[in-house]
Formats: sequence, C-alpha cells, structure tokens
Amino acid sequence: MTTDGLQITGLGKSFGGLRALDNVDLTVKPGEVHALLGQNGSGKSTLVKIMTGVYAPDPGAEMRLWGRKINLPLTAPHHHGIAVIHQDLGLVEDMTVLENLGVTSGYGARAIAPISFRRERATGRQLLKSVGLDIDLNKLIYELSPAERATLALARAQRLLQEHSEHFVFVLDEPTAYLSAEDSRRVVALMRDVADAGSAVIFISHRLQEVTAVADQITVLRDGKVADRFAGDEADQQRIIDAMLGRKLNAYYPNRTVPAPTASVLKVRGLTGRRVLSVDFEVAPGEIVGFAGLVGMGHEEIPYLIAGATPACGGSAMFDGIELLGQSARAIIDRSVSLVPGNRQRDGVWTDALARENLALLENRHQLALAPLRLSQERGSTLSAMQRFGVRPTEPDHRVGQFSGGNQQKIVLAKWMADSPRVLLLDEPTQGIDAGAKFDVLNMICDAAAKGTVVLVASGDYEQLANICHRVFIVRYGQLSAVLEGEHLTSANIARHAQGDLREAG
Ligand SMILES: Nc1ncnc2c1ncn2[C@@H]1O[C@H](COP(=O)(O)OP(=O)(O)OP(=O)(O)O)[C@@H](O)[C@H]1O
Ligand SMILES: [Mg+2]
Repeated sequence: MTTDGLQITGLGKSFGGLRALDNVDLTVKPGEVHALLGQNGSGKSTLVKIMTGVYAPDPGAEMRLWGRKINLPLTAPHHHGIAVIHQDLGLVEDMTVLENLGVTSGYGARAIAPISFRRERATGRQLLKSVGLDIDLNKLIYELSPAERATLALARAQRLLQEHSEHFVFVLDEPTAYLSAEDSRRVVALMRDVADAGSAVIFISHRLQEVTAVADQITVLRDGKVADRFAGDEADQQRIIDAMLGRKLNAYYPNRTVPAPTASVLKVRGLTGRRVLSVDFEVAPGEIVGFAGLVGMGHEEIPYLIAGATPACGGSAMFDGIELLGQSARAIIDRSVSLVPGNRQRDGVWTDALARENLALLENRHQLALAPLRLSQERGSTLSAMQRFGVRPTEPDHRVGQFSGGNQQKIVLAKWMADSPRVLLLDEPTQGIDAGAKFDVLNMICDAAAKGTVVLVASGDYEQLANICHRVFIVRYGQLSAVLEGEHLTSANIARHAQGDLREAG
C-alpha cells in the first residue's frame, strides 16, 4: 500500500434510487496523471464533487491523502491540498477576471494584511501570461469566450497551487471541452508539469486523443462502477471506448452525404463583429460548413453573429432573400434559424428548470396564443425528444442541473434541433459528449443536412470538422484565410492553416 498520493476506497453515492457511484477504489500516486473516463452519467463528476466536499458520500467510504486519513464529507479541500476545476469552471459570471483570480486564494493576503490591488494586478498579469491568455483584467467573465474562461479557470487553480508549497492533488473535470486543439495541448502540457513537480493529477476528458497522450494510468467507470483499469501506454482509443461502453463501437463518424448542387440560400457579406472583419461566404441547402481557428481569431463568433446573439457591427446575412441581422430573437427563431451555443451554463439551458420546461420553450411558440398549454402533451413531446437524443435518465421532470454534463449538452441539442431548423448554427456541438453518444449526435446533424438544413459549425475539434463538414473555413485575425475541401480537408491541414503554417498544407 502506498502511503502517499490519493487513495479512495469503497466509495459509493446514491441520489434517491440512483446509484451514481458503487464501491469505487481509486489510487493516484504523486507524479501521476490519472485519467478518469466513462460514458456520460457514469459518475466521474460525482466522484470529483465528493473529493471537494460538494457531496457527502454514502457511509463506508475512506479517503487518504499523503497517507493521512481524511474525514468525510470533506471541508475546505484546498486546506488538504486539493485544487479543482469543475466541469462548470466555477467562475463568477458578473465579476472581473482579476476578482476571479483572487476569490479562491483570499487575494494572497495574510490574515491581517490588507489586500494589495497593485500586487494583485501584477500577479494577475503574470498568471495570465503563464497560461498564454491575453485579456484585460477588468473584463467581466460573461464577456469571455469559452476557451478564455477555461484557461482562466486553469490560471486560478495554478495560483492556488503556487501559494501552497505542499504537493497537491490537482483535479480537472473536462478542462479542455471548450478548447481548440492547440489550447488543449497547452493545458495537457501544464498538467504534465504539475504532475512532474510531484502532484497527483486526476484528469477527466472525452477527448481520447489527449487522454492517451498524457495519462500514466487510466480508470474507466461504467454505471458508477470501475469497469477497467490500465496503464496509459497500454491504452488505445478502441480499448478505452470498448471499456466505457461495454460494447464495440463500429464507426466514429457517420457517412456524410454530398448535397445536390443547388443555389446558395445563406449569403453572408461583409459580416463584422467584435473579432471578425468583413467576412463573405455562401452556403447551399444540405451543406455542412465548418469554421476553425485559434482562440480569439473570430471563428467562434460567426454562429452568434448570424443568430443575432452577438450584435453584428456591420454586413449582411441574407437567408432566402431575407435579412437576418438586426432581427429580434423571436424573428430569427420564426425564420427557423437555431443556435446551439457553446456555453450551456450561460446561454444554453436554464439549469434550475425542469428538462421538460427547457425543451418546451420552443415548442410553445407553435401553440396558439390563447390555447392552454397541455402538460401531458408537453411531457410526451419532451419524452420523445429526450429519447431521440439519448438523454439519460429519460426523466422530463428532473431539473437540468441534476443531469450529468454530457446529458445537459444533449438537452441543449434536443431543444434546438428537435424542430428541424432550416439553418442550424453550432458552437462546439459535441462538447462533453461521450464517444458513443457523439456518433449519434453527429449522425443527427448529418441527417438534418441531408434533409436540406444549412449547417454552420464552429469547433476546435479538427478531426470532427474534417469528418463531418463539406467545407471548412479557417479564420485568422478575423478574416477567412483559407477554405479546405475535398482531399485537402484533413485535420492536419486545418491545424496547419489555423496556425498560419502554410508550408506543407494543401
Ligand atoms: N444532484 C443530483 N441529483 C440527482 N442525480 C444526480 C445529481 N448529480 C448527478 N446525478 C446523477 O448521477 C449520475 C452521474 O452523474 P455525473 O455528473 O457524475 O456523470 P459524469 O460521469 O460526470 O458524466 P458526464 O461525462 O456527462 O459529465 C447521473 O445519472 C446523474 O444524472
Ligand atoms: Mg461530468
């Protein structure tokens, strides 16, 4: 038995009748990056929340840190040397970047010493620099892009680590879900450094490529139980997925149909936002068009500008000859234009409301103004949408916040796609969705396109873009710097163009 690092034995957790964790053992040694994997709803975040005192485990569990037995439920995890980035990042929306960097660390102040804002700013700038983030310390969190938020959460955890000289248990629950390939490589490298310095690192991700690149050990959960464990160098994606699903997955990506050549229906001219500058493109019915680029280059802004969720500063987006820009949200929805936002905590769902209430928001517009909303009808249509999108558990009356992260994302997709939109605008549509469910979601996107929907998708998952899109635009410094299609449309080419390295690209 090791006397250091983290040791958990006999961990169980029930929510009413649901057994989210069942007799789980987990040991993470210092210097180790330990990947905790499993399907959506398999219990990963629940384990993390127990490790940080958010939930009390069922009786019988034991936890040791650096050989010492810890009383459960845990209080003040950072006093025990546990630093966590939760799936929802835990940033305070209406506070500034600087304030968020200070909150968990008590502003680096000694008990009686006053807070030095000058020192705070200097430390803040230095921290942002260390994670390669170029943002104003006075910006409010809700003004940041998903990638900026994730990186900021990391910087904050890093500060916590730096302020304690002891070794740490560093837990990252899907820190890279919002990030581009380059940014997630940076996060993975940071994780490696933290482990190499003697900390125990637990890493949760559905991006198996980065998992196999960094993990020393892997534990796979299935339905709250440990389904398999293996050393990182014995793991390949196929083996991990089989262990996660308990079955073989035959294909990672659906077949894409080639749309019949028709005239464009979406015509974008001179589109200008905060980051994109006078962008022009056209899309025909049935086309899936991707937008990729490094964080902050503007690709992620395009779906929001067209949907009017971010007001455009100029340009035009004509759909079927009608201008979309400057319309009300209601008018956009009435034109059958749907946006699936990348930040579901902020824009995607109403987490305190029930699943059926979220899913009904759009349905209700089909109701005649005076017709009473029939509850049984609402429940019935929600149930079928949840089944189609594989939301688990299929409980229309659960609060959205009670679903696992990936299942919340499926609810967002069900809400905006159930209605067969004519234009589907997506930002990181499969973030947090497990390998098995990802295939189903992508299949539904490809199906929608095959029926004539115009699909625009912004993503940092280059492999996914290369596999589902017909064309991918690269955005650099707010402009479309390249378009990749046919044999040139590969994830390697997307990455090269996104980085502005044109030497080997097609
Ligand atoms: N507060 C809660 N009340 C009721 N059920 C809950 C609660 N929190 C989690 N659950 C349930 O516990 C199970 C495990 O959820 P958990 O969030 O740990 O999954 P996960 O492995 O992190 O999934 P994902 O990959 O989607 O993030 C799910 O079935 C979820 O619906
Ligand atoms: Mg989770």
